[in-house]
Parts: sequence; structure tokens; C-alpha cells
Amino acid sequence: MQTRPTVIAGNWKMHKTIAEALEFLRELTPLIASAQAKVCLAVPFTCLSSVAREGSGHKLFHIGAQNASSHIEGAWTGEISSHMLKEAGGDFVILGHSERRQYFAESSQLVAQKLRLAIEAGLEAIVCFGESLQEREAGQEKIVTEIQIRESLAAFPLELTRHLCLAYEPVWAIGTGKNASPGVAQEMHLHCRNVLEKMWDKPTAANIPILYGGSVKPENTPQLLAQPDVDGLLVGGASLDARTFSEIVNATVNQQVM
Ligand code: PGA
Repeated sequence: MQTRPTVIAGNWKMHKTIAEALEFLRELTPLIASAQAKVCLAVPFTCLSSVAREGSGHKLFHIGAQNASSHIEGAWTGEISSHMLKEAGGDFVILGHSERRQYFAESSQLVAQKLRLAIEAGLEAIVCFGESLQEREAGQEKIVTEIQIRESLAAFPLELTRHLCLAYEPVWAIGTGKNASPGVAQEMHLHCRNVLEKMWDKPTAANIPILYGGSVKPENTPQLLAQPDVDGLLVGGASLDARTFSEIVNATVNQQVM
């Protein structure tokens, strides 16, 4: 039986001071009081413990980070480990976001290493992948995403897949205002689920949530979530405003959460 929840995850990127983050939460909390989705917020490292403390009273959302080190500890100036994130109150971490892959030269092999440590530290993980515009124009989107998924999840233990979420984020749709059409999103999500099925098995593939990310807004949320293989959304720009984000979260109210 399919048991995947609807997940709405905000990715604040490098936005919000601690004071701004706490203000956002105070505004958001009453607006999502009857949310049916699993709500996640990936905040800057500096906000993590304050936001986690603020949210611990009502458990309306899960708090996470946007990156973690590929090392456990040591002389790695500027790095933050998954254990540190867990201790600071983190529930999850985003790994392999296209901005990390593109601007910080992160490979899928590095993502796989980070993923192993994140899961060992007790975090859940949202692993991102997606093709560039050139790759799509060359008709390479399916092969590129299959390679990214296989390499990022290489050696991932089958028995821990319940801690895993994937996010299909076509690079050409991120921050551009041009979201993938619901049809394109569904086609790619189904493709990704088939890859998971080939890697593992059908029930495992059916239970891993696959989120869509790239220019998600309240207006395109219902059509995207109506797709059978779109299990949630990873929201960048539109997660920065509490009211706008709450509209996206509340658009799942009428969807069945299994
Ligand atoms: P966007 O970003 O919603 O601003 O396009 C999505 C993301 O990068 O996760």
C-alpha cells in the first residue's frame, strides 16, 4: 500500500536573520494550524536552534538545514556536521540542491557521502536532482536525472529509505518564474519513481515521496499536487513570506494524506 505523505518544504536559502525567522514563525503558526501536509522549513544554520526551540511547543513543522558536511568532524574550516545539526534541533537536511551542485561543485558522489552521515546522525534527507536547460534541450533530461539519482543514492540501505525524500528540481525552473508544467512534472516524477523501482523494488519506490521544486507559487500548487506522482513541493522564493507559504501549505487540505 502506498503510504507517502504530502510534504511542503520551504527552502529559505541565504535569507532571514534569527529575529526575522522568529517573526515569520509567529505569523505562520496560526495560519497553518489545520495543515494536513507535513510542513518542513530549511533555514540558515544560524537560525536553526532558535527556530527549532520556537517550534517545539506545537510540532506544526519540521526544521532542517540546507546542507551538511561530508565529514564527521575534524579540521574542515567552515563546515557543519550532521551530528551538529541534529543536536541543534534539526529534523532533516536538504542535500544536493542544484545551487550546491552548480556554485560549489558538489558531485553526486559527495552527496552520497553526505547522505550516509546525515542518516547515521538521525536526520531525514531531501535529496535534490534535476536537469539544466541545455540538458533538456538536448533531450537528456531522463538520462541525466537517472544518473544523478543512482549516484546520489549509491549504497543507500534499503531498510532506511523511510528517512528519504527526493526533490525533482529542473534547474531552468528555479528562481526563474517558469515552473515545469504539471504534465512535465508528472512525466519526470514517474520516470524517477521507475528508476527507484529498478534500483530497489516497487513497494519501496511507491513509498518514497518525490517533491517538485522550481517557481512554486500558490497559483500553481493545486495543479502540481494533483499529479499522482507529485507528493509535495520544495518552495524557494514563495516560502519567504508567511502568508504566501501558508497558502501553499493549505492548498493540500483537500488532498488525501495517506
Ligand atoms: P524557487 O526555488 O521556488 O525560488 O524557484 C526552489 C528551490 O531552489 O528549492
